[in-house]
Amino acid sequence: MVQATPLLLVLFLALGAQGLAVKKVQAEFPALQCSLTGRWVNDLGSNMTITTVNGNGAFAGSYHTAVTATSNEIKVSPLQGSMQKSPNQKGQPTFGFTVNWSFSDSITVFTGQCFVDEYGKEVLKTMWLLRSRVENIKNDWKATRVGTNIFTRLQSQE
Ligand SMILES: *[C@@H]1O[C@H](CO)[C@@H](O)[C@H](O)[C@H]1NC(C)=O
Ligand SMILES: *[C@@H]1O[C@H](CO)[C@@H](O)[C@H](O)[C@H]1NC(C)=O
Repeated sequence: MVQATPLLLVLFLALGAQGLAVKKVQAEFPALQCSLTGRWVNDLGSNMTITTVNGNGAFAGSYHTAVTATSNEIKVSPLQGSMQKSPNQKGQPTFGFTVNWSFSDSITVFTGQCFVDEYGKEVLKTMWLLRSRVENIKNDWKATRVGTNIFTRLQSQE
């Protein structure tokens, strides 16, 4: 009976240390990882591809809108953005990007956050401002639209 005590103590210490190691791994790689890279589709059916996010959080990609405020033919347009790389972002980073419309004089800026939802699915919750070009300063008041978009990962058909 007395002999068993040191063995139990060793076992307890070993299991305890393992528990601590697991906790440390979870802290370094949180379960809620959300990555901007890849293909996304939003609630309007617009598609966006973010190719790579570099070490500083800068990224680029392309935007294929499903809707337009102009009568011009829609074309794929380039986007450029920044993602916050601060350690406080804990795997659900904030970001912003600009879409330079290649078929109009307009510019859209998006700002948002990459979340992992309750089903473990990545979702981008964004707000945007669309600036249209107006002929003169008197029309400035009506040149900006605001809205929201929710993006989810585009499942490839292949
Ligand atoms: C978005 O991608 C889907 C799947 O590839 C395609 O069916 C759809 O036409 C695309 N929409 C736009 C606006 O590019
Ligand atoms: C922005 O779009 C215009 C018109 O398509 C193009 O000439 C210009 O190179 C683009 N600039 C960037 C930084 O994408």
